[in-house]
Amino acid sequence: MKLFALISLSTLISATPVKRQVTASIDNLFKNHGKTFLGVATDEKYLTVQQNAAIAGQDFGAVTPENSMKWAAIEPSRGVFNFTGADYLVNWAVTNGKSIRGHNFVWGEYLPNWVLNITDAQTLIDVLQNHITQVLNRYQGLLYAFDVINEPLNQDGSLKSTHWTQVIGPDVFRIALEAARAADPSVKLYINDYTLDWNNTKVAGMVNLVNSLNPPGQPPLVDGIGSQAHLNAGEAPSVHGGLVALSEAGVDIAITELDIPGAEPSEYQTVVQACISVRPCVSLSVWGIRDPDSYRPTTNPLLFDESWQAKPAYNSIAGVLNSPSQPSSSSAGGSASGAGAGN
Ligand SMILES: *[C@@H]1O[C@H](CO)[C@@H](O)[C@H](O)[C@H]1NC(C)=O
Ligand SMILES: *[C@@H]1O[C@H](CO)[C@@H](O)[C@H](O)[C@H]1NC(C)=O
Ligand SMILES: *[C@@H]1O[C@H](CO)[C@@H](O)[C@H](O)[C@H]1NC(C)=O
Repeated sequence: MKLFALISLSTLISATPVKRQVTASIDNLFKNHGKTFLGVATDEKYLTVQQNAAIAGQDFGAVTPENSMKWAAIEPSRGVFNFTGADYLVNWAVTNGKSIRGHNFVWGEYLPNWVLNITDAQTLIDVLQNHITQVLNRYQGLLYAFDVINEPLNQDGSLKSTHWTQVIGPDVFRIALEAARAADPSVKLYINDYTLDWNNTKVAGMVNLVNSLNPPGQPPLVDGIGSQAHLNAGEAPSVHGGLVALSEAGVDIAITELDIPGAEPSEYQTVVQACISVRPCVSLSVWGIRDPDSYRPTTNPLLFDESWQAKPAYNSIAGVLNSPSQPSSSSAGGSASGAGAGN
């Protein structure tokens, strides 16, 4: 059944125009620097609030489903798929001309008990392949990218032990990527993780993981690395070094879940500038619209306040994007470092 037959779009989209929230779309300005989009995480419960939909529509170029495409939301029991929330998000994005970053398939968290109960490798492989195929077939041709693998690494760069790696082993990553590629070859396939915000052993481990999945002479399985960038205050200046080191993997890079406690304008500006100046960094997404809807709400880490007003950080991004483009740098040009452990 085709997606567009499922929901009457006109009932979903508010008819009342909302006053423009800010003076400039940071998405449009970001694209002027040759980037793909500046996006935002959201979902049905936010987009049904008119002010959120207006901001997502006017100021951002892509959406990531914050929760609606996670495993427990999509397949709460085996073979029983619930696409209600994901359909809403995808319909909203298509109707409003936004790109979509799907999120996610192989993650150690947010798994229903029926998945955790599977201890037979072949059964879990069958379940994983079916899940990926069902989701990507439903949204065939509509997704820009998908975080096929989420948070696979420990801080020392070794592979994290999860239900997936315990039952299937490290081959789970190749199996998932191949299933995603087969189901929709038009989707860019990402590995997404946190604390890639400076040049560290986890960054080296990520480069090694991507290299192991993209062996020379074969079509690559991994198209991009997502750096979540849930920063601590003060970390923004190191982000550039992390992006340059990730560039060694030779795939796209996206900043996928940016938020910064306190939303200091200069820190947001520094992160946006880092993505502008590192050529493989193709896109940037922030993890929510309004501070009170952030997953760490007490830190006020986002670009809009509780009254949906653009914060100084928003305007500082617009300011840096309005200045002339800096020359791009790519990787340092050397061979990939061998510092990662355990892959
Ligand atoms: C499907 O998911 C939606 C949330 O998007 C939820 O409200 C609904 O109860 C779910 N349906 C079933 C049958 O579980
Ligand atoms: C998971 O296994 C436990 C223990 O065998 C069982 O009690 C439970 O019902 C199972 N849950 C699901 C969702 O299959
Ligand atoms: C990152 O750190 C490693 C290990 O110290 C080093 O070899 C590499 O040159 C660094 N990369 C960048 C881009 O600074």
